[in-house]
Amino acid sequence: MNIFRRKSVADLQAEALNDQRLHRALGPLNLTALGIGAIVGAGIFVLTGQAAAQYAGPGIVFSFILAGIACTFAGLCYAEFSAMIPISGSAYTYGYATLGEFVAWIIGWDLILEYLFAASTVAVGWSGYVTAFLKDLGIAIPAAFTSAPYDHKASAEAGLNVWRLFTEGWISTGAVLNIPAMVVVAVITILLIIGIKESAAFNNVIVAVKLVVIFLFIGIGAAYINRQNWHHFIPENTGTWGHFGWSGVLRAAGVIFFAYIGFDSVSTAAQEAKRPQRDMPIGILCSLAVCTVLYIVVSLILTGIVSYTKLNVPHPISVAISSLGPSLAWLRVIINIGAIAGLSSVILVMMLGQPRIFYTMAKDGLLPPVFSAVHPRFRTPWVAQLLTGLLATLIAGLFPIGLLGELVSIGTLLAFMIVCAGVLVLRFTDPQIQRPFRTPMVGVVAPLGILFCGWLMYGLPRDTWARLLLWMAIGLVIYFTYGMRRSVLAHPKNPPAQEKF
Ligand code: ALA
Repeated sequence: MNIFRRKSVADLQAEALNDQRLHRALGPLNLTALGIGAIVGAGIFVLTGQAAAQYAGPGIVFSFILAGIACTFAGLCYAEFSAMIPISGSAYTYGYATLGEFVAWIIGWDLILEYLFAASTVAVGWSGYVTAFLKDLGIAIPAAFTSAPYDHKASAEAGLNVWRLFTEGWISTGAVLNIPAMVVVAVITILLIIGIKESAAFNNVIVAVKLVVIFLFIGIGAAYINRQNWHHFIPENTGTWGHFGWSGVLRAAGVIFFAYIGFDSVSTAAQEAKRPQRDMPIGILCSLAVCTVLYIVVSLILTGIVSYTKLNVPHPISVAISSLGPSLAWLRVIINIGAIAGLSSVILVMMLGQPRIFYTMAKDGLLPPVFSAVHPRFRTPWVAQLLTGLLATLIAGLFPIGLLGELVSIGTLLAFMIVCAGVLVLRFTDPQIQRPFRTPMVGVVAPLGILFCGWLMYGLPRDTWARLLLWMAIGLVIYFTYGMRRSVLAHPKNPPAQEKF
């Protein structure tokens, strides 16, 4: 069994050209809006405050710059791939075409951490803003039903023991379940199963709402900056690695890296782009550039109008506005509405992406055929969607946003590293392939992408590493007991029968 068997880029390119089932309707503006729609979410609306309060203080601005640089390198590599292989499997397909099936499986399995877990993470952020919004309307949901029953603090004695890091240190918070987070995932799952598809126009409206809210925050917040709050800009390290000081900036960069996730999802729309060769790189790189600038400015203003010590809450932007006095209560309401709308669209995009990756993997034989079942009436991959929804609902109800966000960050960083490596490898193995967009100075950019993403991973807590390792170990067992044997490429002449659903 050759676990490094590859799909041919030429076949994939032919598939992209011949598959005309999807409507090629998206231009550069729509693709950029799609990117911004997927990017701006819980990262900036929630995690920024928590990372500033716990790790970096106002130095969170440097964390955003660091993570932005890492994403720019990865974004350039994604741009090359998505223009070259414009089909919707994203990093999984790129991996299959370059580094072979085993690596493709690792990316596919790892992308579950990105999409499925990100949907849960953002749902927890959504719950924080909805609870605050309802409270403004005089409706108070008991705290026991709006937060996670479990939290985790890595036990110091666990050292580098992966199993102990995973099993020890769980704390019961006294809460029962995060009900709003579960409800939003469940509702979006049902919508996606019956086929309500996010249209570009709908997405554009949500993106506009999100951007207006952020510009309002920037415009009004700038007038209320108290420079005292920036002193010290990078608070002194407490003596523990990762708690303020430059190590804190690095750790926070790994955490808020979450805020940038989503530019890669532009690549999943490759088959719906009018001119993917030109517009994929534009959509990916422009959405990334817009968000990088916005994030740096927002984090500067956020930590300027309120002390970072007050930001460890589920709705920090709203808390910052509240601290400016009752005259700005109207702005808080607008920000809450914008955040709720914005977070909903991120959940939708993530929940849309996951089953399509399952679907592609099942068609390749790496997952059971039931994952590629398409509903006869709704024409959606309903089994994969339902399973994604059930898991994401459960996870959103049980775990806190910090823990989930860090896991998503580490998983996505790993996927980005593999994509950077893939671009470089393919330049050597298949130099003659037509590349409509070439990553500039690939010999420098791709290795720097790998290094920066690796550096951000290194900054993440040990227990997050332990979770990643365990997740990957489970993935390996599934691959070696199932996917390796059932892969379509393992039986080129006689693929295993696909059961009908
Ligand atoms: N970047 C997305 C967010 O921050 C995942 O919600």
